[in-house]
Amino acid sequence: MFKFNKKILLGASAAATVALFVAGCAESGDAAAPAMASGKCGSASVSHTYANGKKVIDGGVSYPVVNAKTGPYHVDTAAGNGGYSYGRTPPADEVAVWNTTVTPWRLPPKGEGSVEEGEGVYEEKCVMCHGDFGSGGGGYPALSKGNAYDNLASLKHQRVGGNDEGPIRVFGSYWPEASTLWWYIKEGMPHPHTRSLTDDETYALVAYILNLNEMEIDGEEVDEEYVLDQEKFAKIVMPNKDGFEPNIKGPHATDDVRAYYDNPKNYGAQKIASADERCMTNCQKPTAKVKPITIEQKDFLPPLSQVRDLPKQENTNGVDLEAKNTYESSCAVCHGAAGMGAPVVGDKKAWAAVVGKGMDTVYANAINGTDGGMPPKGGTDLPDAKFKAVVDYMISQSK
Ligand code: HEC
Ligand code: HEC
Repeated sequence: MFKFNKKILLGASAAATVALFVAGCAESGDAAAPAMASGKCGSASVSHTYANGKKVIDGGVSYPVVNAKTGPYHVDTAAGNGGYSYGRTPPADEVAVWNTTVTPWRLPPKGEGSVEEGEGVYEEKCVMCHGDFGSGGGGYPALSKGNAYDNLASLKHQRVGGNDEGPIRVFGSYWPEASTLWWYIKEGMPHPHTRSLTDDETYALVAYILNLNEMEIDGEEVDEEYVLDQEKFAKIVMPNKDGFEPNIKGPHATDDVRAYYDNPKNYGAQKIASADERCMTNCQKPTAKVKPITIEQKDFLPPLSQVRDLPKQENTNGVDLEAKNTYESSCAVCHGAAGMGAPVVGDKKAWAAVVGKGMDTVYANAINGTDGGMPPKGGTDLPDAKFKAVVDYMISQSK
């Protein structure tokens, strides 16, 4: 039913394939250039002649026919200027489409967005899954659990005993690089309209999520007014930046690394009794002190759920959902229940009387307001056509 996961996977693997394929070939002006010059990479459209005299285009692959059956494909390694003779080198514009990765070494494109704008986009496109203020829930990951710097301490939790708390694994306290966030949002969110956000919207969302995690950039708090751009993005230091690898710099590097790996707790493992011989087959004696690590859903904070359902789509049955929403947010206060002097939606009699005046009059009354207490356009500033659709919706619900 939900294809979006697949779509993302496909996207990612296609990107990986392209990336592998073009490695060392596509971009000129770097280390690949000599390979280009020596003809190793071939060109976008290769034309060759096989031994049988037939001309083939592209790549030099043929499917020989043996005993009237098509045999496995055959790669003519002699074709393609002595280089690789399968596939083709993607032209620059094809590569550019996939070549969007943002990494710690490759900043996102130029752009900017404020926390405030980010909040707006978030409310519109993310809140239904990720919850108010990124609180998560319903199987969707939380994007914040409060102050990232405070949460850092939770990462020391090793969960060696059954009831030990695990680390808080949200963006702010866990992720080592902000580049992942930018790219993930731009390429993968919102489910299921991936790649629909502009660069500026992505900056704004990143700014908002930094704000939710109560983070700082270059000593400055990412507050409501903060505007994130490429230059400031480059200065983000994630609180857990050094949490994934031992520090291999500095004068005591080797000793530090040794000490790190000497303590299995540092990487969540349990040590086999040191007297044991190394062994490659049938090693697991029943007495061996190996504690298997099982990770359960409840080990995650917030707990992971396998549910990946979209919020339920209402069966619209021809109902104008936009009008319905406007009714609920702007009109139901007065028209939703008796006691406000307004005809109650669903009250057939009352609305029959209203409609009896003729729709032109009804629209005009509702647009201009009445002395009986109907504010002009119900207090909204909708264009006439949209406002009339709300009136129509109210009537449709009162038949
Ligand atoms: C229809 C539901 C849905 C919507 C809407 C949605 N997301 Fe997601 N989001 C998900 C799911 C599901 C995951 C987890 C994907 C996975 O782990 O495979 C996710 C993961 C994420 C993550 C990674 C979180 C982590 O800690 O791993 C970020 C960041 C994120 N979304 C941001 C956004 C932003 C920003 C928006 C709005 C532009 C958005 N999402 C809209 C469903 C949604
Ligand atoms: C502050 C309360 C209030 C709000 C908010 C409100 N209404 Fe009304 N509405 C009334 C009252 C009271 C009447 C009855 C007026 C009368 O009889 O003169 C009325 C009457 C109407 C009528 C009937 C007009 C007629 O000719 O009899 C329509 C249609 C209507 N409202 C539409 C709307 C729509 C659409 C909205 C929301 C966009 C809305 N109203 C919001 C109080 C409200």
